[in-house]
Order: sequence, then C-alpha cells, then structure tokens
Amino acid sequence: MSKYIVMGSQWGDEGKGKIVDNISQKMDSVVRFQGGANAGHTVIIEDKKYVLHLIPSGVISGKAKNIIGNGCVIDPVTLADEILDMEKSDIIISTKKFFISSDGHIVTPLHKILDVKLNKKIGTTSRGIGPAYMDKAQRTGIRMESILDNTFEDKFLEHLEYYKKNYSFIDDPMINEIKRSLPKILDSIKLIKPFITDTKQIIYNSIKNDENILYEGAQGTLLDIDHGSYPFVTSSSTTIGGAFTGAGVFIEFDKRIGIMKSYTTRVGEGPFPTELNNKIGEKLRKNGNEFGATTGRPRRCGWLDLPLIKKAIMLNGFNYLVITKLSCLSGFDKIKVAIDHDKNDKPIYKKFPGWQKKVYGITKIKELPKNCINYIEFIENYLKIPIGIISTGPNRKHIIVKDEL
Ligand code: GDP
Ligand code: IMO
Ligand code: MG
Repeated sequence: MSKYIVMGSQWGDEGKGKIVDNISQKMDSVVRFQGGANAGHTVIIEDKKYVLHLIPSGVISGKAKNIIGNGCVIDPVTLADEILDMEKSDIIISTKKFFISSDGHIVTPLHKILDVKLNKKIGTTSRGIGPAYMDKAQRTGIRMESILDNTFEDKFLEHLEYYKKNYSFIDDPMINEIKRSLPKILDSIKLIKPFITDTKQIIYNSIKNDENILYEGAQGTLLDIDHGSYPFVTSSSTTIGGAFTGAGVFIEFDKRIGIMKSYTTRVGEGPFPTELNNKIGEKLRKNGNEFGATTGRPRRCGWLDLPLIKKAIMLNGFNYLVITKLSCLSGFDKIKVAIDHDKNDKPIYKKFPGWQKKVYGITKIKELPKNCINYIEFIENYLKIPIGIISTGPNRKHIIVKDEL
C-alpha cells in the first residue's frame, strides 16, 4: 500500500494542488499537516476551477478521507466559507470523510491585524499565520478543542485582553471592532464543530490498516521556518519533519515527491538569486499567469535554480520528482538554468536552446520538442532523481506520466 508525501521544492506555488488531486484519486486519506489559509492550491478539472486554502486538495476527487492535522492553524471563518464554496461546486464535505484536529490552533481577527502590523517587511499573505504560530509557541494560543468544550468564547475574550495589555497599538476601538466580528466567528464555529476530532487516531488507524495515504505539503521547502531563507519564510515546518509533528504519528513514506516548477517564482520579500527583473521575467509571469491564488499579488519570476532544488532533495529525501508548467517555457530563444552559485550567491548559468512549439496539454513524451526533452534530461541527470511526472498545463488531464506512482 502507498504512503506518499508531496512537498514543494521551491518557494511555493509549484503546482502541488494539481498533483495532489491527481494522486488522491487512488488514495484512502489525504492529510494537511502545516500552514493555514496562506496556501492557495488550484485544481482545474475540465472547465471547473477549484481553489483550496485549508481543505486538502484530495477533496475534489471525492474518494479519500481529508484531514486537517494538528500542525495547521485554522481560521474558522475562512474554513467555513471554503466548505460552503466547495458545496456550491457540488463537492460533498461530510463528517464521514472530513476531519479537523482538535489540537490545531485557531487564527483570530487579531492575528490578522498583528500580521499586517508586525510582518510588513516579510510580505506575508496577511492571513494571521505568523501570529497564530507565535501564540502557539508562546502557549497563549486557542486550540480547536475549545470549540468542543465550549470554552472558545471565554478564551477569545481573554486573548483580546492579553494583547490589549501587552501591545500599545491595540486600543479599545480596535478591540470593539474585533468583538463585533464574534457572531460571524460563532456561526462559522457551529458549521465546523461536527468535523473536529482526534485526527492522529484516524491517521494511525489508517496506517495500521495499511491504507493508501497521501500527505499534502503547503508552501515550499525554501519557506520553511528553520531551513528556508529566514526571516523571509512562513512560520511552519514545510519540510518533511513537519509531517511528523503536524500529523502526530510515525509513518514511513515510500514515495517522497518533490514538486518543482520548470522555472522559479516567489511571492513576498526575500532573496531570489535567479530573479529576472526584465522582459524575460515579465514573459514568464505572463506565460505562467503568475499571480497568487491567495492574495492576487504578481509573483516574482526567474530561471530554475538547481542548487536550491538539490538542497530541497537533501532536506526532504525526495525520491520522485514532478516538473510542472513546462508549457510556460515555450517561445523563448534561450533558456537558462542555474547550476551553481558563486561566493556572492550569484547564479552560474548553463544556457539551453529554447523551443517554439506549444507544449500545452501534451500527454505523450514523444510529442515534446527535442530541446524540451533535452532540458528535462539535463535536470534529471543533474539532480540524480527521476522525474516521474511532467505537467503540461493546469488541467487534470494535462499530464505526462513517465513513471506510474
Ligand atoms: P500550489 O500552491 O503548489 O498548489 O500551486 P498553485 O495552485 O498556487 O499555483 C500553480 C498554478 O499553476 C495554478 O494556477 C495551477 O492551475 C497552474 N498549473 C499547475 N500546473 C501547471 C502546468 O503544468 N502548466 C500550467 N500552465 N499551469 C499549471
Ligand atoms: P502555497 O501552499 C507561495 C509566502 C508569503 C510570504 C511568506 C510568509 O500556495 O504554495 P505567511 O503569510 O505564510 O506568513 O507569509 O511566505 N507564502 C507563500 N508563497 N505559496 C504559498 O503557499 C505561500 N504561503 C506563504 O508570500 O513571502
Ligand atoms: Mg499556491
């Protein structure tokens, strides 16, 4: 039976959602283990587009159980809206198949205000993620279990008092404004309450029964709180270690799947050695429609940076790679790939001849242009990990499977 994990190998938005949807068609469970609604995972099936933030992307295929693990931070209002949105799209979210950890932490409106006030230089998604994890580490957070034992409202009011006392910019009008949002939060809580449970027991039983399980990473390796480009990172462990603490049980993953975009993007601030602040970067943004699914911000674009992917392989033990958005490289005269960095962290490039033929939607490897095949083979040889899937478009069916999972 299959125990898989999918993680981003760059700065997020590698196309994890599309691949998780693909794999989850044969899975019994799909598990999110870190992050929150900072994630934006797009899945397109025929002419229908689904954007998921907190609910695992496995929900679209309708087969698997979908679990939000204890390592996630959960905004009840965003989650309730997402559940209702899914139901509008005829995706059924039932208590038999959707579970939220009682140990997960709650994101409040105050966390969002703090995010904007304190984290400007990072360029966060303003979803309150950092402050919610800050409260968790500081042991002042509110957990989902407070919804089950009906202590949420008291804890929420205590939380407002605590911040009012400790942060001078938090004043009475701000607190009153937040209090006015309480009825909406309580409505959302009513909607999500039936799904809250001890998810680690569900995951453990699944493993014991030798079911097929897929863990869905959010963000990317280079946004990891420990191993990313600190401080320009998110606030959770996006690498493989996060899967153990964030779902709560031991699991031996047989496939550790790294998703890699065929170029590089980044949203928010921080170093980006191969960034292209020129017409080529603009062309990548246009070809790839590189605008954030969560915030709509234009993504910074640049060439593929292989030493950074090597680092992601080292950290996560990837043994299967997926390359996405290859179609977006059509129409360049030359394509560059960083194969090293000099002592000032400037990339050292290898140049490849481009290809003009459309790659969009191709499903057979032999139909790819020769230069495109050479590009993929070079990457595979450099990284010494097989590329098992090539994604050639956003749609579920735009895929070349070289090595069946
Ligand atoms: P995630 O956060 O890693 O799940 O990635 P996102 O969904 O945020 O961003 C990837 C974007 O690229 C989405 O809009 C996808 O629909 C789209 N996408 C995924 N794979 C491909 C691909 O192979 N080609 C193209 N053109 N778009 C893709
Ligand atoms: P998915 O799962 C891309 C970035 C933000 C910011 C930094 C910190 O869709 O790949 P945060 O709100 O987490 O405190 O912001 O991390 N970031 C992402 N970038 N994709 C994501 O998720 C991201 N989640 C956070 O832009 O630079
Ligand atoms: Mg995304």
